[in-house]
Amino acid sequence: MRTDIVHPGADKLRYEIRRIVEVAKSVQALGTPIIWENIGDPVAKGEQVPEWIKEYVKNAASENASFGYSPTQGLDVARDYIRDERNLEDGINITSDDILFFNGLGDAISTLYGNLHPKARVIGPNPAYPTHSSAEAAHADSAHITYKLDPANGWKPDLEDLRTKIEANPDIAGILIINPDNPTGFVYPEETLREMVAIAKEHNLFMISDEIYSNLAYAGSGMKKLASVIGDVPGIAMRGISKEFPWPGARCGWVEFYNRDKDDSFDRYARSLLDSKMLEVCSTTLPQAVLPRVMGDSRYYPYLDDRVANYARKSAKAVEILSSIPELVIHPAQGAFYMTAVFAEGSLTDTQTLSVTPEAEAVINPHLADARPDQRFVYYLLASTGICIVPLSLGFNSDLNGFRFTLLESDEGKFEQIVSTIRDSIQTYLAS
Ligand SMILES: Cc1ncc(COP(=O)(O)O)c(C=O)c1O
Repeated sequence: MRTDIVHPGADKLRYEIRRIVEVAKSVQALGTPIIWENIGDPVAKGEQVPEWIKEYVKNAASENASFGYSPTQGLDVARDYIRDERNLEDGINITSDDILFFNGLGDAISTLYGNLHPKARVIGPNPAYPTHSSAEAAHADSAHITYKLDPANGWKPDLEDLRTKIEANPDIAGILIINPDNPTGFVYPEETLREMVAIAKEHNLFMISDEIYSNLAYAGSGMKKLASVIGDVPGIAMRGISKEFPWPGARCGWVEFYNRDKDDSFDRYARSLLDSKMLEVCSTTLPQAVLPRVMGDSRYYPYLDDRVANYARKSAKAVEILSSIPELVIHPAQGAFYMTAVFAEGSLTDTQTLSVTPEAEAVINPHLADARPDQRFVYYLLASTGICIVPLSLGFNSDLNGFRFTLLESDEGKFEQIVSTIRDSIQTYLAS
């Protein structure tokens, strides 16, 4: 090329959750069935979308209007529904114009960071969901700045670490939380949320709360949405239907702006997101038409309660099985459908192995040379058992060694078997 066409931030884009699939497919080609524990798609893992939800989709698909563009911000019926729900549930006062639809939160995330001033940084949790951390790093062409979620403290954020980083770095303009969190399943206690909002207020920052799992918080988790604690601090909540309905293939998510009137720069930024969406015309119409019908149906929340109770049971089972390993730190999930286990420092070496066939060894070998310690374990587990999980360090931009697995396996007996195989493999690996 006459001039370099690669964006300086291109190397910052990495999504290990899907990358590992390439290696898994090569293992599969050798005849080992793969147990996909890497991707958070309930439908791919066999969850059945209820017939009554499918009926709403069929009905909406038979309406002519569903085939047209929607207004750039989103269909009025969808935005009005969300506005009313938010105002009623969380005692805030937003209008429909404070809501903007996207083609899934993946689209919203890249638009959010892509339109942020290149110098303005958003500090996020470590471990980090890679779509946020990669997009934020790419927008600034610099490593993502993180605060620590502490595995020794049930994954609670280290607020001292957060404060120190904010004070040391005047470019930080916003704080990101993911609540409930991916990959840890942690739910921020209300008091912690309030403290974080107070830190934002003290330093004149805005908050971003990714709440794609907010309706999948477990009973007793104390889940609070940002809207209920935000007070007069500028904030953005991100929501979607990918995990809830679940309908990830709909590519439908939205952002809610809070307190646009409190800060001119925040208001201008919010308008720039709308302008950016306007250039794309709009987001997908059909799921927006379906949204208020499904969420407004009296069967919706009981349906979610059932699903959540099922995840909570599996989480408790996983803790029971994995906590027998002293070198592993694990906490029950409080929401969403992921759990993260962390290896104690120094427990992994670069000589540990599991028994694998020479053919499988040949598949993983090229990836082991510069692999992180947890990545090495994950590749050996994949090659020897077919279980595909995600290494914490590389997959979630973390300085911790560990792995994330999902609670999505719908057959509870099979789930127990998978987690037991992971436990047995860890024991063998650590002892090798
Ligand atoms: C925390 C979080 N945010 C956003 C997304 C993206 O969701 P969507 O399907 O709406 O793009 C995911 C998907 O796994 C997620 O875990």
